[in-house]
Amino acid sequence: MRSLLGDHLLQRLQQDTEGKLHQRLFRCLRAAIIDGVVQPMTRLPASRDLASEIHVSRNTVLTAYEQLQAEGYLEARTGHGTWVAEKLPESFLNTKNKKKAPELTKVQSSYVLSQRGSNLLGYAAASPHQWGAFVPGAPDVTEFPHHIFSRIQARLSREPDVNRLIYSNAGGCIELRSALADYLRVARSVQCDADQIIITEGIHQAIDLVSRALSDIGDHIWIEDPAYWGMRNTLRINGVHIQPMPVDVEGIIPEQQPKQPPKLIFVTPSHQYPLGSHLSLDRRRQLIQIARQHNSWIVEDDYDSEFRFSGQPYPSLQGLENNAPVLYMGTFSKTIYPSLRIGYLVVPKPLFSPLRIVAAELYRGGHLLEQKALAEFIREGHYEAHIRRMRLLYGKRRDYLVSLIQRYLGSEFIHEYDEAAGLHLVLKLPDHCDDVAIAATALERGVKVRPLSQYYMQSHAHAQRGLLMGFACVNEKDMVMAFGVLLQCLREAKVPTLN
Ligand SMILES: Cc1ncc(COP(=O)(O)O)c(C=O)c1O
Repeated sequence: MRSLLGDHLLQRLQQDTEGKLHQRLFRCLRAAIIDGVVQPMTRLPASRDLASEIHVSRNTVLTAYEQLQAEGYLEARTGHGTWVAEKLPESFLNTKNKKKAPELTKVQSSYVLSQRGSNLLGYAAASPHQWGAFVPGAPDVTEFPHHIFSRIQARLSREPDVNRLIYSNAGGCIELRSALADYLRVARSVQCDADQIIITEGIHQAIDLVSRALSDIGDHIWIEDPAYWGMRNTLRINGVHIQPMPVDVEGIIPEQQPKQPPKLIFVTPSHQYPLGSHLSLDRRRQLIQIARQHNSWIVEDDYDSEFRFSGQPYPSLQGLENNAPVLYMGTFSKTIYPSLRIGYLVVPKPLFSPLRIVAAELYRGGHLLEQKALAEFIREGHYEAHIRRMRLLYGKRRDYLVSLIQRYLGSEFIHEYDEAAGLHLVLKLPDHCDDVAIAATALERGVKVRPLSQYYMQSHAHAQRGLLMGFACVNEKDMVMAFGVLLQCLREAKVPTLN
């Protein structure tokens, strides 16, 4: 069998045809070392093996190795073979021979990305490492019963079923769709059957699918203001016209007589993201009526409704009326872990077949083994048990964070729309505060909070100031330390504190 280096050298030797074979091999190997194809401190194949891989005599390889050794690129270690030197010869690297990759012309570099691609870069907001105090929306992934889930996965992998190893164009694993239909009917009052559910790679993909399949470039789409930046960015790149709608304690305030009726209305009715209120019954009815009147679709993002720490959970908007014009999105990112990348979209019956086909054309569909494992995990009762356990844990962590805020800052710092729910809360700051600068200083000191003002689309002057603080993936001990750091940042920014 040929090594990767063997393959590489064979290709290079075909291009370098000048001189004797050992000189050509010397040049090709030296270029491979300089270009980093073989890294410093890597062992090279034995001369006999390399000779047979690239069909030259062993002497040819030995001569090339010796010359590279003499020039300082290789080292022979007695009894341990030939290695690339740790430091490459400076003299060679400084010569004019060093090849430079051709530079992109000005025109090429200004067109590397499309207009919408480069716009999106300007709005990119995903944190590089979404873990620790106080990353909003991150669950405690270490608490998941990995041993149970991996046991189910291992069993399924031992009996591989062809149907789980090929592309899916059925909207995902039927067992998962069916387990979800049962769960959603009971836990979220969603009116649905398995044949209305499309499994997606999280809510992000569901937003992409819905906006591409149900709206055209330039169509008007309502979103809440403030809203989840990930939703805004997905809509942005799809070229729709995003119309931000203000939010109050009852949730989105819809325009009663819109001049440009929306094609889609994205909302977070159970737990407005990021402020934390829920959509009142009155507004729910208004929204459904507006959607019916203008043939719009409401898209319900039910990202974290499993976590409500007091009172009853609010039922879904989708289930409020029969045949409501609502598509419902959910995710396992908060209840299991984000990198699982499994979510779901519940659609009205007539939309199932077309959306399933669009999904298959756009994304192909896969991860059926994980989906089947998840179905069993739910059916065996582990999912509900895990949610119950996490609800208790996150509830305690939330109480602890609230107590720190009350003690060191005062209750008025907890946003007035806040309800005891979800995986984050909003620390409200006085209007004059620069929440972006405070979050940046905190981040430099290892504390991750996100500035509330950046969740708004409307002009910054109108945006409320505050910090989103996730409490789910940080234990009490780490929380105190991180809170101390944040408090210091707030003091330096002249935010009045109590102690
Ligand atoms: C409001 C909201 N919707 C959707 C998502 C993303 O969900 P997913 O991981 O399923 O794409 C998030 C993630 O934080 C969120 O906050």
